[in-house]
Amino acid sequence: MHPTLTIAIKAARKAGDIILRYHNQIDILTIENKAANDFVSEVDKAAEDAIIDELKYAFPDHSILGEENGKILGDERFQWIIDPLDGTTNYLHGFPQYSVSIALYIDNEARHAVVYDPFKEEMFTASKGDGAYLNEQRIRVSNTRGFENTLIGTGFPFKAPQHLDAYLAMFKTIHPQVSGIRRAGSAALDLAWMAAGRMDGFWEIELNIWDIAAGALIVREAGGFIGDFSGRGKYLETGNVVAGNEKVFKEILKAIHPHLTADLQR
Ligand code: IPD
Ligand code: CA
Ligand code: CA
Repeated sequence: MHPTLTIAIKAARKAGDIILRYHNQIDILTIENKAANDFVSEVDKAAEDAIIDELKYAFPDHSILGEENGKILGDERFQWIIDPLDGTTNYLHGFPQYSVSIALYIDNEARHAVVYDPFKEEMFTASKGDGAYLNEQRIRVSNTRGFENTLIGTGFPFKAPQHLDAYLAMFKTIHPQVSGIRRAGSAALDLAWMAAGRMDGFWEIELNIWDIAAGALIVREAGGFIGDFSGRGKYLETGNVVAGNEKVFKEILKAIHPHLTADLQR
């Protein structure tokens, strides 16, 4: 395993320990509302601080972008992107589907990624060119050949209600063609689960870069495809994400295309 990935895993475990320490005591947490339906607790912040401490110790010169702290400036070539707790709403309800997401981009290219589910003790990892793993076992995307018999992941645009009509139209097109659609509540984990073949595809509108930076590499290293709503590579900028095995990726793009408003055509 690449030594940089080892550090990222260590940082994710530290954050995971903090998250688990409080998961039975959610009622004592102070919860702030960052924006409509956007919550943060001191667990998110403590977990992010623990990750930053670990990364800064190992790589004092690197830049770090964290959801809660914003950008810590350093050498721009080395950019860590972290979401200390992806699935905060789940966490605050004791719904055990949440994760720690950590990625390193070098010269704007994803190189190392970790998505860690501390509750289920599942560590999804990838380094560019080395494949994707779940607890050190190689994972691959599913090999379904279209929408038939597939399970598709998604997220609702609850922070961007202006897209709800377009989203529901996409949903109505996809829903009758597949076996099921799941909204599990942690986009980073959705991508990791898809990479492990537990779901066949995924789409969501307006995610943040820290929701997808790690999951995207895990998907690609598992043989999957990820893109923006035109199927190209601008998903980190737009936050509009489609992912899947090759066939399902294409099916989702085809299904959502008629419902793309001007705002979503990117
Ligand atoms: C959220 C989760 C969720 C997605 C939201 C994200 P957070 O991240 O990834 O699945 O639907 O758009 O904001 O706020 O829990 O870190
Ligand atoms: Ca997130
Ligand atoms: Ca978060």
